[in-house]
Amino acid sequence: MGQCPGCREWNTFAEEPAPAKKAGSSVKTAVRISSIEPTRLSQVSVDERQRVSSGITELDRVLGGGIVPGSLVLVGGDPGIGKSTLLLQVCHNLVRNGNNVLYISGEESAQQIKLRAQRVGDFKDDLMVLCETNLEIIRAVLEKSKPDIVVIDSIQTMYSENVSSAPGSVSQVRESTGVFMQIAKGMGISVFLVGHVTKEGVVAGPRVLEHMVDTVLYFEGDRHAAYRILRGVKNRFGSTNEIGVFEMRDTGLVEVENPSEYMLSGKPENASGSVVACSMEGTRPVLIEIQALVCQTNLPMPRRTTAGTDFNRVNLLLAVLEKRAGLHLSSCDVYVNIAGGIKMTEPAIDLGLILALVSSYKDIAVDEKAIAFGEVGLSGEIRAVNMAQQRVQEAKKLGFTTVLMPEVSRKSVEKIEGIRIIGLKTVREAVTCIMQHQS
Ligand code: TYD
Ligand code: MG
Repeated sequence: MGQCPGCREWNTFAEEPAPAKKAGSSVKTAVRISSIEPTRLSQVSVDERQRVSSGITELDRVLGGGIVPGSLVLVGGDPGIGKSTLLLQVCHNLVRNGNNVLYISGEESAQQIKLRAQRVGDFKDDLMVLCETNLEIIRAVLEKSKPDIVVIDSIQTMYSENVSSAPGSVSQVRESTGVFMQIAKGMGISVFLVGHVTKEGVVAGPRVLEHMVDTVLYFEGDRHAAYRILRGVKNRFGSTNEIGVFEMRDTGLVEVENPSEYMLSGKPENASGSVVACSMEGTRPVLIEIQALVCQTNLPMPRRTTAGTDFNRVNLLLAVLEKRAGLHLSSCDVYVNIAGGIKMTEPAIDLGLILALVSSYKDIAVDEKAIAFGEVGLSGEIRAVNMAQQRVQEAKKLGFTTVLMPEVSRKSVEKIEGIRIIGLKTVREAVTCIMQHQS
């Protein structure tokens, strides 16, 4: 069918051949049923095998403390962002620590891998490389060589002869992932899958892969800028939302140990519209610079653009400022940018956004040594956020002296030497606070 009778969209049908049923399976199932019983959870023995360190602290943190044996990890990201580079570096470390690693590439030849390997480090040790896309062959090779860790670059190039559609199609990707799942769980091999992200921002079709694998990591960042962020979005063995920060150099990816310092480098001094906010990324507070530019417009429909944060959230905050603090923003163009290209969507940056908008609108610079965090509600109230203490400590660590935060969260923060805390209850108070700084 050309058009979907459900949603009326054109050309949205994807071919999916029905799997052939094996004859006689029902007899086998009947035999098996009689011998299978549920187990008590308390009697399930846990295999206390240690996690393996990837040799890259930032990656270990995102994975929840290292690579779990027998796990299936998906690394997604735009083409050219550095997925192959990262995994090659992981291979390098793992091989050096005496693990048996196999790198399977369906995209590059062994020579190309060798060239990249020469850039990222000294590969005196033996890394096994296989350029192959046929799943049946790969399975046979794995059964024979039994490596500890396998990297598949990329899942979209793998194909199974059992499925008739082209490599990269939804059914091929699903079939291949299923096979690697069996390999991971059955043979206890940790498998890293590289997945290219489509232009809608998902790996190969609507979330097919993410349900099947244990861990999903996304590699993001601006391809033109040097830093890269590795974000955990699903993890069966640890918390999600942890990030790892890397910088792309000509010798491969380098870990950034203090992301706040990195994000704030190049912050302008005494400029209106620039505010430092604090966002929790997993267990780590990260300070970011929010920049806003608010200027009068004659356009009937003022322009609004955002980069690095949620467009709708900014619109909502503009409406709150208009209604609750009496600013006439509907006649202004508004541009918001999170410097550094990192994406931040935690509600705790609301207060920072509000302050940046007001600061630009009034053209008054905010205290350079101040950071802000707090969620803003529709009535203009500034709401509590979690982990206030850690955020204040991060501010202290980076030499800030003032913290603007929700009044209600104040009691959860212990006094810290050299930090002045200003509690705010409403956006109106936030506006007054900026006006005071002028005088
Ligand atoms: P790559 O790992 O091939 O991306 P992916 O596998 O996600 O498609 O990374 C490619 C980019 O990284 C490429 O544009 C060149 C750059 N790069 C460096 O800047 N330094 C390096 O040492 C390496 C290996 C790559
Ligand atoms: Mg690649």
